Amino acid sequence: MMDKAAGLPIGMFDSGVGGLTVLKAVREQMPCEDVVYLGDTARLPYGTKSPQTVSRYAVQCAAELVGRNIKLLVVACNTASAMALDALREIYSDIPVVGVVEPGAQAACVATRNRSIAVIGTESTIAGGAYQRAIHSIDPGTRIVGHSCPLFVALAEEGWTDGPIPEAVAKRYLDPVFSPFSLAEQSVIPDTLVLGCTHFPLLASAIQKAVDPATVIVDSAATTAAIVHGELVRLGLGRTGGGCGKTLYLTTDDVARFARTGTRFLGNPISEREVELVDL
Ligand code: DGL
Repeated sequence: MMDKAAGLPIGMFDSGVGGLTVLKAVREQMPCEDVVYLGDTARLPYGTKSPQTVSRYAVQCAAELVGRNIKLLVVACNTASAMALDALREIYSDIPVVGVVEPGAQAACVATRNRSIAVIGTESTIAGGAYQRAIHSIDPGTRIVGHSCPLFVALAEEGWTDGPIPEAVAKRYLDPVFSPFSLAEQSVIPDTLVLGCTHFPLLASAIQKAVDPATVIVDSAATTAAIVHGELVRLGLGRTGGGCGKTLYLTTDDVARFARTGTRFLGNPISEREVELVDL
């Protein structure tokens, strides 16, 4: 018989709908699991806020999910993972807490051939240096160039993910990152680009067009889902049996907007009936 705790849902949160790219990967790899997903849309973006504010918001999101009895917490937001993962692991030491930065760093270190990696994300993620630290803890000799691309968040939210506008924005942001003239002396042009923000996978094709076709683009969603799966198996908490896992969506702002924009990020319809409004 399945352990009682194994029947509990996985809890996930993001500043908004971006983390649904991680939920999509979790669904693909663990279709039986129930998930409670919280999007803190009322306070998006996190990516321009201070570490103190992001940590406070992240702890409130986690408290809401833990209060609903979850077996594992996924911090499906790069900014919150970069700023608040240690605090969350300390506060909720009785459940596994998985972020998206370490999986992204691992995937990038596996992908790079020339040990030169570019990381793009929100202002706070890049300024905080979490990716840089995570990559260096795996391979201290890797060269890393970080660049914030805040407009990508707005473009993804707006649904402008293909065509001349996102391609021009991608070129404007990425040309200096991959230019031998703007890189420090002795640097090597990165062969790997980490999408260090939940919104960026939606712009992957525009981003790919702006860089050398041989550049490997790393999206941490699949690696994060694999780590979640590994943790559940290790702890004997994986849900077994047939059937489809259920998802409950929580949002801190307009339910209709969450369902509409979320549908695009998830790649599957979200109905307003599945979304609950919460006040943190
Ligand atoms: N979810 C955020 C991240 O992955 C992007 C949106 C925001 O700035 O809140 O960094």
